[in-house]
Amino acid sequence: MNTDGLAGRRVVVSAGPTFEDLDPVRFLGNRSSGKMGFAIAAAAAARGARTTLVAGPVALGTPEGVERVDVRSAAQMHSAVMAALPADIFIGAAAVADFTPATVAAEKIKKRPGEDGLVLQLVRTADILADVAGSEARPALVVGFAAETGDVEANARAKLEGKRLDLVCANRVGVEGSGFESDDNALLVLGHGLRVELGPASKTDLAVALLDIVAQRLPAR
Ligand code: CTP
Ligand code: CA
Repeated sequence: MNTDGLAGRRVVVSAGPTFEDLDPVRFLGNRSSGKMGFAIAAAAAARGARTTLVAGPVALGTPEGVERVDVRSAAQMHSAVMAALPADIFIGAAAVADFTPATVAAEKIKKRPGEDGLVLQLVRTADILADVAGSEARPALVVGFAAETGDVEANARAKLEGKRLDLVCANRVGVEGSGFESDDNALLVLGHGLRVELGPASKTDLAVALLDIVAQRLPAR
């Protein structure tokens, strides 16, 4: 008998960066490697969860037993995540662009004689995590990440409350050997009445430890 609370549960994970196109050859992106989200999806599937991974543009293989949906932009990721609901658990590990170009130029943007600068107009993207947490098909557990500088804990608590999350995993960015691009990370996991420090450890080990917390807090079936 499989006694893992995650067995048979529906888990949706977002991972990686998003790329926001400016013209046919250029885009705005970020340095997310997708490793944390892929490790979470792999660990969830290994525990018997029915796992969908909505992945931005990354150079990573699909973990065993995971259904993968590839997307490029924040808007595409939003649609793919919403289409993957209902689920028991949503874990938003993607580094979603907060802003996207107001228009995508059909032709390559050219330099013009006499112009010594270029001003881009950007517009806000929809907040996928907040929309999942506020949706009619709200998963029983909604878990976010928070990439922070400065007062990491206070900033992450604000996201926990503001987006109506069950858990937030905060990590300090802008320090060496942690966060984006790295194989290792350290997470501060905050919930209502919960404060746990995980790591520094490999993203694989962090994913397993995070899913232990998730499984404990999942309401009984
Ligand atoms: N997120 C999301 N959709 C967005 C922006 C963020 O789903 N359009 C999710 C991320 O996947 C992450 C969480 O929200 O789980 C926090 O992302 P983060 O960039 O740290 O925070 P923001 O809410 O975007 O706030 P800011 O960047 O201004 O600190
Ligand atoms: Ca952001």
